[in-house]
Amino acid sequence: MSARFLCCVDDVPDGGARVVDDSPGDGAVVVVRRGASVWAYVNRCPHFSVRLDFEPGEVCTYRSKVLMCAHHSALFAFENGHCIEGPCEGAALTPVAVRVVGADVWSGVAG
Ligand code: FES
Repeated sequence: MSARFLCCVDDVPDGGARVVDDSPGDGAVVVVRRGASVWAYVNRCPHFSVRLDFEPGEVCTYRSKVLMCAHHSALFAFENGHCIEGPCEGAALTPVAVRVVGADVWSGVAG
């Protein structure tokens, strides 16, 4: 798997999320950050297989712990993408392997 640059760490608000459209079609990724910790998930809700953002690029987060699907308010944990509350509770977002290299976030990198 080849590495792809997603964004700079500072492009993602601390305690927030940013949608990175790094390839056409189904390639949009949501990058989530808390301090120096960064996680990423395919931008697709397991409830109805639609994007998590209603307004393009805007994914709501709460208390730097969960992100919320804009459609039916499912809540997903930053750390593992598991739905902890909502209509798809017990399901999970699809993780994207990322690594922070310097000030940059790369996908497709194990670890
Ligand atoms: S589509 Fe995401 S909670 Fe329903």
